Amino acid sequence: MKKAVLLSGIFMAMLLSNYAFAQTQTKKTTTARKKVTKTTTVTGKKPSAADIAQGKELISKADCLSCHKVDVKVVGPAYVDVAKKYPASEANYALLTKKVINGGSGSWGPVAMSPHPAIPPADVKKMIEYILSLK
Ligand code: HEC
Repeated sequence: MKKAVLLSGIFMAMLLSNYAFAQTQTKKTTTARKKVTKTTTVTGKKPSAADIAQGKELISKADCLSCHKVDVKVVGPAYVDVAKKYPASEANYALLTKKVINGGSGSWGPVAMSPHPAIPPADVKKMIEYILSLK
């Protein structure tokens, strides 16, 4: 009788540790899944052809082309050179959108770009998506 109690005690302990093991396993999988989601968000979606075409159109309607040309440096750098310097990525879209809105100098030389606070950030982002699609 004592033996049976002892055995069932061991059995219970085994069951419990198995349960605890299963719990840790589940936690691990959840963490792994979270990591994958994070990576996807950082990468972002590729700009559509429509966004890029709209960016080109917006640039032709703003003052950009009085200082920039696609393939020749004027006052500002050629857009193909900007595309060579910055690979197309969400981080670079954000960085250059901020730069066009605030203006400033230092990336290409001492001459400053004028600020563009009146253009909506979503429109500037499309302009940048167009510029960084040029190679
Ligand atoms: C008054 C002239 C001028 C106008 C107008 C202008 N730019 Fe610029 N742009 C510059 C100059 C100068 C630079 C280089 C700035 C530097 O060295 O940091 C530049 C740099 C840039 C860069 C690269 C920024 C960097 O940090 O590498 C982008 C992208 C850009 N311009 C886009 C635009 C867009 C889009 C417009 C229109 C909304 C525009 N620019 C209008 C003069 C201008």
